[in-house]
Amino acid sequence: MSSEPEPRILISRKEIATAVERLAAEITRDYLGKYPLLVGILKGAFMFLADLIRHLDFPLEIDFVRLSSYGGTKSSGKVSQVQGLLTLVKGRDVLLIEDIVDTGLTTGFILDYLRKQMPGSLKLCALADKPARRRRPVVIDYLGFTVPNKFLVGYGLDLDEKYRNLPDICSLED
Ligand code: IMP
Ligand code: MG
Repeated sequence: MSSEPEPRILISRKEIATAVERLAAEITRDYLGKYPLLVGILKGAFMFLADLIRHLDFPLEIDFVRLSSYGGTKSSGKVSQVQGLLTLVKGRDVLLIEDIVDTGLTTGFILDYLRKQMPGSLKLCALADKPARRRRPVVIDYLGFTVPNKFLVGYGLDLDEKYRNLPDICSLED
């Protein structure tokens, strides 16, 4: 018997593909003719962003950010910093792309960071929303799925860097 948890499919690749097409249609309706900047949050959102933009048949740009945390202050023990964005955000129609919103702290932090750079507009697209553990309210403008309070892997989502390559979104069962 292995002690590795067993991935169990929660959202199939087919359901994901359907949701991605629906989200792409909503985004197309709102951004057609605007030349938006889509900003993916690494690493988790890479697969979702890659699939999504294949359904967006108009000019756009993409860039990526990652949130790095490191120990440093004696008060909190953790400081977060947004890294990686090379594109000028000022005046752009920015659409932030996230895999899953859980506590809301990551997305909230990156939205604050982007907002300070005075984008023309700023919206959020998330593949999944896990509202049970929310600590900071976040408006999700384009949402794929509301998911239960379980740890999910696959389709970009990891557990200790593993399982990102699974084509379905799975929960880990012991
Ligand atoms: P937050 O709690 O909303 O700040 O989410 C932080 C990050 O944790 C997200 O960017 C996700 O990549 C990751 N995350 C949240 N829930 C899960 C999960 O169920 N599986 C894998 N990663 C998750
Ligand atoms: Mg993430």
